[in-house]
Amino acid sequence: MVFATSGCTACHTYAGSGNSNLGAPDLTAIGRRKYGIRFLVRQLQCPSCIRSGSAMPAFRSLGEKRLHELAVFLDASKGTH
Ligand code: HEC
Repeated sequence: MVFATSGCTACHTYAGSGNSNLGAPDLTAIGRRKYGIRFLVRQLQCPSCIRSGSAMPAFRSLGEKRLHELAVFLDASKGTH
């Protein structure tokens, strides 16, 4: 829900939907990378702190609860079967 309504799919594809913009990677299997919840929350709060020059906007304004939910969702995304 948070993923679908936060504008992520303006740049990212996920399980065949969404758009591919600014070189943003597909997130269908992002959980396989084992970044972990804490890392994902930090990345969403400040993408350019993780990768300098990142074209991804910061999503700090979503607030901690929704960022945590998003990170849990991303971490659980292990691809389609
Ligand atoms: C304006 C385009 C844009 C939007 C909107 C956007 N992203 Fe991104 N995102 C990017 C780009 C470009 C990258 C690759 C550069 C980087 O890693 O920072 C990226 C990278 C990522 C990564 C790291 C992927 C990896 O393999 O390391 C995650 C996780 C991510 N985005 C999640 C999200 C989520 C969740 C949202 C919605 C809250 C979102 N993004 C919204 C452009 C965007």
